[in-house]
Amino acid sequence: MASTTATNAPKAASARTAAAEAAVNAPEVQVKGVTRREFLFYIWSASIALLLGELGGAIVWFALPRFREGEYGGTFPVDPATLPAVGTAPALNPVGKYWISNTANGLLALSATCTHLGCLFKWVDLNNRFECPCHGSKFQATGVYIEGPAPRNLDRFQLIVDTPSGTVTTDADGNPLPVSSPTAIRVNTGKKIKGATHA
Ligand code: FES
Repeated sequence: MASTTATNAPKAASARTAAAEAAVNAPEVQVKGVTRREFLFYIWSASIALLLGELGGAIVWFALPRFREGEYGGTFPVDPATLPAVGTAPALNPVGKYWISNTANGLLALSATCTHLGCLFKWVDLNNRFECPCHGSKFQATGVYIEGPAPRNLDRFQLIVDTPSGTVTTDADGNPLPVSSPTAIRVNTGKKIKGATHA
């Protein structure tokens, strides 16, 4: 019985080889007027089209703003008429989580969360500085660190300001933005510039 199986094995293998060769050499089979090659070509084209469609969708998705205006992560319009006067108490926008600080060197939008552990600090008129109620960090109106456990200055958001002579934007270091006669102001809470660490 075992020797019969062994004898039949090469025959079966050669039959499979012959079948495979026949399949390779077989003329194109037409199914309802479409050859196999055409069918495969259509499948391949559809796959490429689908891939390109997905790629295009992904590019559009990334290009579109993810946050609407007035939503944290997006931009917030600031009415120039409501800007605090230079050197006076900064103004808080609790929705945008930023303070507008109008300093002698220019305009700043400071993140409202403490750089220690993220508490919301307050402006204290009496001491003319920001003070964090959680662990006592203190910062100047410019966001510069004064004392406490916070490891760095307050973070800043990008400002985009339209003026009669053009649009100016906060630089990469977040320096105060000198503006005169602004016609429109926007705070971009999607663009945060980390405060510098102190010694
Ligand atoms: S969270 Fe502000 S000092 Fe700790």
